[in-house]
Amino acid sequence: MAPPGPSAGVRLLLLRRLLSTGTEAAAGAAAAPTAAATATATAAKAGNKGDSLALYRRLVALGRSGEGSVSRALSKWVRQGGALPVQDLVEHVKELRKYKRYGHALELMDWMVNARGTTMSHANHAIQLDLIYKVRGIEAAEAYFADLPDPAKNHRTYGALLNCYCSAKMEEKATDLYNKMVELGICSSELLFSNLMSIYMKLGRHGKVDSLFEEMKVVKNVKPSNMTCRILMTSYAQSNKIDAIEELLKEMAEKDVALGWSAYSTLASIYINAGLVEKAESALKKLEGLVGPDDGMLPFDFLISLYASVGNLSEVNRVWDVIKAKFSKVTKRSYLGMLQALYKLNDIDGMKQIYVDWESNYKFYYVRLTNMMIRGHLKLDLTEEAEALWEKAKEKGTKFDSKTCELFLDHYMGKGGMNLALNWLENMIKLPNKAGKLDQDKIHKFQKYFEEHKDADGAERFCNCLRKLGCFDGKAYESLLRTYLAAGKESYSLRQRIKNDKIGICYDIWELLNRIGDKG
Ligand SMILES: *[C@@H]1O[C@H](CO)[C@@H](O)[C@H](O)[C@H]1NC(C)=O
Ligand SMILES: *[C@@H]1O[C@H](CO)[C@@H](O)[C@H](O)[C@H]1NC(C)=O
Repeated sequence: MAPPGPSAGVRLLLLRRLLSTGTEAAAGAAAAPTAAATATATAAKAGNKGDSLALYRRLVALGRSGEGSVSRALSKWVRQGGALPVQDLVEHVKELRKYKRYGHALELMDWMVNARGTTMSHANHAIQLDLIYKVRGIEAAEAYFADLPDPAKNHRTYGALLNCYCSAKMEEKATDLYNKMVELGICSSELLFSNLMSIYMKLGRHGKVDSLFEEMKVVKNVKPSNMTCRILMTSYAQSNKIDAIEELLKEMAEKDVALGWSAYSTLASIYINAGLVEKAESALKKLEGLVGPDDGMLPFDFLISLYASVGNLSEVNRVWDVIKAKFSKVTKRSYLGMLQALYKLNDIDGMKQIYVDWESNYKFYYVRLTNMMIRGHLKLDLTEEAEALWEKAKEKGTKFDSKTCELFLDHYMGKGGMNLALNWLENMIKLPNKAGKLDQDKIHKFQKYFEEHKDADGAERFCNCLRKLGCFDGKAYESLLRTYLAAGKESYSLRQRIKNDKIGICYDIWELLNRIGDKG
């Protein structure tokens, strides 16, 4: 049970915006290179915050392009007079890393060091180490660490290497390194304990989690924190030791360890997973009682989500009222969480009220909220309402995302409305990160439909989508040819198109071509 961090939704939205504008800019550049170049050069000379954003857009627009693309983009940027403050570059690295573009993030760091001669801070060394591990593997990360100058071998870089060992589930190396850190006296912090405990939890070595916790308390005399308690609780939960959790809670209470609300949200979700609804509800009451004035909306978001999981609609509504009364501006994350909760509880009327409330308080739509509403309506087969919701959001300037496309695409496919499904597929391929690719079943379903309906135009449109999705092949041509044949439609260019696509003309394709009279 881990809802996204405070600003994850907002950041995601920003990235989406960057992604779409990035690609548009790239497309524009292809059509009118000089105009685009001038615009960027002007932006670059302006040397403001927009400048940094413009560079980030270019980096994002590189998509999945391979090694060398970042260096080329940066060199071009420099040639056009763009500024490159180190701080901005580090920010870009962090952003790229957050969105799992590890290769590009690493190339950017390498470029900073090799082309610009930037001296990395220790914190940046730790980031670079992590990226090297992710892109080139554990041995490369070890070699990087070994080559670091002594002062850079500090708790950060040691911690980063330990993290690599943990992710790689290399228990022995992790333990050795940990012991080394103990020797060097850079591991007294309980953060390290929680790190190690979570390794062992990932490895399924629950006994080790337990003994580390003991070691921390007894040998190292470190007072357990809510973090380590949460890990231990989760470890107990995974080995079905609910009693042990209760013992632990008692022990912590005796020792006056303040667990904080987040430990109780972990506890509640453990109870929920174990089907212990009453205990979960009492943990939720505890949670709510521990919320402090500075904790913001997050604990309430957890409460709403967890109450929805125990199926308690009246509590979900009550907590929402608390949020509305307590905070003058409710975040879109909270709105989204509330809509998700009501969706889970099948309360479409409640969802509508929340959405109307959002519309009356906010000028701009937020596509994830609209998606949730569409999903709620489609689940009940309220197709027209869902379309109307979308039309309205569109009028207000909302752009669909891959989820919107997927929802409508799947809905229409399920009902056999393949032409409507095709419209949404065509929308989907306009998106820069064509997530939710078509699986083979869906591809077959489309092809079969166009063949049976003798719809050559539809089949061509579908082929165009396949091409954009990068899954256009000989089989797709075969289906297209069969559709032409069924439609009794002639074509004298298909043979040439197949050749241009460098697709081998197998016997089936050859025969189909002959039958539709395309002798080339
Ligand atoms: C963790 O415990 C400390 C007290 O030791 C408390 O101040 C803090 O709010 C707790 N954190 C959470 C997220 O509950
Ligand atoms: C929901 O929670 C409240 C407060 O804990 C409780 O009084 C009520 O019976 C619960 N309702 C359901 C349907 O479980």
